[in-house]
Amino acid sequence: MSSNTFGKLLSVTTFGESHGPAIGCVIDGCPPGIAIAPADFVHDLARRATGKSRYTSQRHEADEVEILSGVYEGKTTGTPIALLIRNVDARSKDYAEIAQTFRPGHADYTYWQKYGIRDPRGGGRASARETTMRVAAAVIAKKWLKQRYGVEVHGWLAQIGGIRPELSEGAAIDFDSVESNPFFWPVAAQVPELEHYINALRKAGDSVGARVNVVAVGVPPGWGEPVYGKLDAELAAALMSINAVKGVEIGAGFAAVVQNGSEHRDEMRLDGFTSNHAGGILGGIASGQDIVASIALKPTSSILIPGHSMNTAGEEVEVRTKGRHDPCVGIRATPIAEAMMALVLMDQALRHRAQCGDVGEVSPRIA
Ligand SMILES: Cc1cc2nc3c(=O)[nH]c(=O)nc-3n(C[C@H](O)[C@H](O)[C@H](O)COP(=O)(O)O)c2cc1C
Repeated sequence: MSSNTFGKLLSVTTFGESHGPAIGCVIDGCPPGIAIAPADFVHDLARRATGKSRYTSQRHEADEVEILSGVYEGKTTGTPIALLIRNVDARSKDYAEIAQTFRPGHADYTYWQKYGIRDPRGGGRASARETTMRVAAAVIAKKWLKQRYGVEVHGWLAQIGGIRPELSEGAAIDFDSVESNPFFWPVAAQVPELEHYINALRKAGDSVGARVNVVAVGVPPGWGEPVYGKLDAELAAALMSINAVKGVEIGAGFAAVVQNGSEHRDEMRLDGFTSNHAGGILGGIASGQDIVASIALKPTSSILIPGHSMNTAGEEVEVRTKGRHDPCVGIRATPIAEAMMALVLMDQALRHRAQCGDVGEVSPRIA
């Protein structure tokens, strides 16, 4: 009911607020024997972190993971894994002005109406600080998926405002390029244009939306479930649960609306599927093709441009949000989207193994 846990066989519960003493998670159902050390978390947490470039929020958190349980002599034991990260750079005074005021577009009003009390500091539980623990939990999922099945999950920023990567249709993504710049942008030559764009946006006190694409490569056919546990349904829910996400597409997504069946169906030949409009999922079950998803993120609501709003006393007020905010939340969403896809896939892999582990390969796989 309180919805701080997700996943069936692999479940993740997160806790903590943006400006509380710490954030953390409990990962339950993880298989034993996976080698895990604090150093494993450094790379992905740094990719998600604020303050790593001029183009994100300037909050500086060390994001050092403490492993409290579930790991003995460097390996998971099969018992609940508890991870903790202490918040060290909260500046709560920035939020004093909005403690009684609802930022338009943020969760202030809805949390207030639901609970009758809210922690306004840094956005409290609605802050994307919570997603740090999703990324931390997914470090274990990514490692297991890679080691056990050769599955890799990669994301990239596919649009900021009106700017798209200058790539021809169907061109392969250069993930070295994606990792080489603070925008997770696949075309390095466009980075100066993005820098200029975000600088101008910051100067104007405004923000902008974005699109993030995420793909899982190497998923074997069979993962996923029919009807209520469809892999695409669970992926959509997991991706939609990321702060600021307003849309999720799987494969062709909304482009399917204008396609004909003869175009959309992914034909099968001896040398493989001829296209991937399904995004690697048919009937809720992986086909063995790449699992492809795309998310739309709204523009940051905490901006300097004054806007109309209300306060808790029911009066009209003008809001101008100061403090440290992301001018485009989509920039840091890439590792979060990867994390949610990896966690869903690991959960589904364990569920597939539990029910259908004895089925084996009934037909040759389509490439
Ligand atoms: C990576 C990331 C960073 C974010 N940073 C900010 C921010 O600096 N300021 C802000 O107002 N919202 C930020 N958000 C968005 C809010 O957390 C989100 O809009 C808010 O919780 C309301 O939820 P909703 O947009 O999903 O309805 C961020 C979201 C993500 C994914």
